[in-house]
Amino acid sequence: MTLPDPQFNALGELHHFIDLDALDKAMLTRILDTAEGFAGVNDRTVKSVPLLRGKTVANLFFENSTRTRTAFELAAKRLSADILNVDLVTSSTAKGETLLDTLRVLEALQCDMFIVRHGDSGAAHFIARHVSPAINVINGGDGQHSHPTQGMLDMFTIRRHKGSFENLCVVIIGDIQHSRVARSDISALIKLGTGEVRVVGPRTLIPAEVESLGVTVYSTLDNALIGADVIMGLRLQKERMRSATVPSSSEFYRTYGLTPARLAKAKPDALVMHPGPTNRGVEIAGSVADGAQSVILEQVTYGIAVRMAVMSIIMGNATSLRRAGT
Ligand code: CP
Repeated sequence: MTLPDPQFNALGELHHFIDLDALDKAMLTRILDTAEGFAGVNDRTVKSVPLLRGKTVANLFFENSTRTRTAFELAAKRLSADILNVDLVTSSTAKGETLLDTLRVLEALQCDMFIVRHGDSGAAHFIARHVSPAINVINGGDGQHSHPTQGMLDMFTIRRHKGSFENLCVVIIGDIQHSRVARSDISALIKLGTGEVRVVGPRTLIPAEVESLGVTVYSTLDNALIGADVIMGLRLQKERMRSATVPSSSEFYRTYGLTPARLAKAKPDALVMHPGPTNRGVEIAGSVADGAQSVILEQVTYGIAVRMAVMSIIMGNATSLRRAGT
C-alpha cells in the first residue's frame, strides 16, 4: 500500500516541505515569485514583516550546518517568528532519548514549525509523518536524499541572472552520487524546463540510471563545459562514501577541478555556483570561487528570501486549512 504524500494537506496544499519531486512547475514558480518579494525586505532598513508574529520555529539540526541553519534563523526573524535553536549535541537525544520523544517535548513546548537537518535519508519524511498535524516540517537536508530549500535558492539565483531556464545549459560537476543538493537541483531544473542539464564526474560518483532523471552524462569536464551557461560545483561528500570510491583530492582536482583554464571553455557569462562548503583546490580553484563569474555568496544571501517564501507559504496554507475547518 502506498501512503499519501505527507507534504500535502487535506486541501492538496503544501503543508510540509520535504523534497521537490512532487511539486509542479507552478508551485516552484510561486516560491520563486514569493521570494522575489522578500528579497526586497532584506534591503530595507527595517528588515522584518509581521507574517509569522506569534509563531515559534524550532531549528533541529542533527548534523552540522553553517549556511542553512543561520539562513533559516534570519528568515524566521525577518518574518517576526520566535526561533528556538535546539542544541542537539547537548540535548537529551545525545543522552539516549528517542527522536520521537524529543519531538514530543518540542510539541509540548508549542512549536509551530520544525526545520530539520539530519544525516539519514528519509529523516524529514519520518518526522513529518509523526508530528502533530498542527506542526509544519521543512527539510534542511537529509542524508543524500534531498535539500529542497538549497535547490530553490539555486533556482532563484539562476533566474535572477539569466531570466528564464528554457535556453540554458547547466553543468553539475563531481559527487552526484552522494549529493542531496544535486538531486534537488536536477528535479527543479527539469521541471522548470531547463534546455539541457549535464552531469560529469568520476564514474563511481555518478548514480546508475541518472539519465532517467532527464540529464546527460559527460565523461570529460572539458567537453561538458563547452557552451555552459551555469556551472555548479559540489563538495566531495567523503562522510557518505562507504569505500574508497574516488582518487585522492589532488587527482580529483586535476581531472574535475574547476580551474580558470576550464572555466574559459564555458560561455563568457557563465555563472559559477557552489552550495558550500567549498573546498578550494579540490573541486574549485580559489581564483574561480572568488572570481567575477562566481555567485557563491549571492546564493547564501538569496537563501534568506527563499526560506522566508517557503515558511510563509506553508504557514499560510495551515491558516487557510484551519479556517476551512478541515
Ligand atoms: N549548503 C549547505 O547546506 O550548507 P550548510 O551545510 O553550511 O548548511
